[in-house]
Amino acid sequence: MSVSSVLAGSYSTADWQKGYTSLRQELSYWLDPVSGSLPAGLVGTLFRNGPGQLEVRGQAYGHPFDGDGMIVAMTFREGRLHCANRFIRTPEYLAEQRAGQVLYRGVFGTQKPGGWWRNFLDLRFKNPANTNVIYHGGKLLALWEASSPYRLDPATLETLGRETFHGALLPDQPFTAHPRRDPETGDLWAFGVRTGLNSTLSLYRVDPQGSLVEKQEHRIPGFCFLHDYVWTPNYRIFFQNPVQFQSLPFVLGLKPAGMCLTSVPNAPTKILVFDRQGSLITLESSPGFIFHFVNGFENGEQIVVDALYYGDYPKLDPDVDYREIDFATVPPASLRRYTLDVSRRTVTEETLVSRSVEFPVIHPRRQGHAYRYAYMGATHASTGNAPLQAILKVDLENLGSEVLRSFAPRCFVSEPIFVPDPQSGDPEDRGWVIVTLFDASREASSVVILDAEDLGICCRFDLPHHLPYGLHGSFTAEVFV
Ligand code: CO
Repeated sequence: MSVSSVLAGSYSTADWQKGYTSLRQELSYWLDPVSGSLPAGLVGTLFRNGPGQLEVRGQAYGHPFDGDGMIVAMTFREGRLHCANRFIRTPEYLAEQRAGQVLYRGVFGTQKPGGWWRNFLDLRFKNPANTNVIYHGGKLLALWEASSPYRLDPATLETLGRETFHGALLPDQPFTAHPRRDPETGDLWAFGVRTGLNSTLSLYRVDPQGSLVEKQEHRIPGFCFLHDYVWTPNYRIFFQNPVQFQSLPFVLGLKPAGMCLTSVPNAPTKILVFDRQGSLITLESSPGFIFHFVNGFENGEQIVVDALYYGDYPKLDPDVDYREIDFATVPPASLRRYTLDVSRRTVTEETLVSRSVEFPVIHPRRQGHAYRYAYMGATHASTGNAPLQAILKVDLENLGSEVLRSFAPRCFVSEPIFVPDPQSGDPEDRGWVIVTLFDASREASSVVILDAEDLGICCRFDLPHHLPYGLHGSFTAEVFV
């Protein structure tokens, strides 16, 4: 990896690259804020997941999404922050640590070393368990969408093993990293997809006690890359984007799976709308690619879906180190609203925010229901693409009045987490936004608590070490330390 220090407007590439460094130690300690004070109502645990280790003994994984899952637990209590991190002990992680080398192919960009013949016809993937972590029904679950969850001890973060929900899931059955919780019933609605030339989509309901109590299976024609979806009380909605999987280079061992995806030219996105009984209606919208949905809700005969839309699948060239990405060549994501009319079979599309954004979150009580506010990571500049350095608050009833809290030029943000103030459920933006920053000036991470109304800084904790850029996480009001 060459270290370039090009100042591309709001940031330097060398600063950004430093956040992609492994954290090998497993730590546990208390911190006081360096400025401000922790809001009295903010009590609970933020669990985050992401690739904590990006290589095995100097042999780098080809893509950060292939990195080993590491859980960070941040406990907020009595004015202080307790921070602990631990790797998820999957059999693949333990085997690679013992062997001191890459033994498995990664879905996104990792090949076993030794050339194509070592990868030839090897279709086994490593489950890095690195994408999200949720606390549901007394279970802490690390999620990775192509296989079953791993269960962890919420107090010690010790790996307890695969979660099959008493055999309701097969040991290697896909379970999404983006389940959605019904705020009325507490049910967790999830899915899993096995894909190839055609796909099998499984829909799950996990009750508030943590039992998998409902399972439907649907055959879907064609290849499906479904990372996230939309849940409303009566519908489950998936966007089957027009990407195809060219299996031959993968099977022959020439390329990792994630690099065999290509956009299908001029093909529409298929919108799969399942009702509660599992009946499917398919609608069509413009081509493009969606990783993440903000929310969706029913409005009379219509279903409104808000998503972060890319004009094209943001693919990584197999010969390019991901730390050397030229952001100018990566399509930015914008916030787009789709209005689906199921009876007329029509879809209308409207761009709500054109700044490049990722990692959207909302008030958990508004999941699947009409809502007003969304928070997300954003670029510092209002146009073009760049690493995320800011948090954007969008008021959907007052577009154009977005609030931006930027940490440029030397800090980079991860997914924000919204925590409602337990003392006041309304208004919807009464609460806090927890932001994990990588601060290149200290080569270490910070945790910043923002007031969710105006994004003013309540307090800041400076960790004595860095956290590699993470993926997703979730908050529970429970405390385990
Ligand atoms: Co995601």
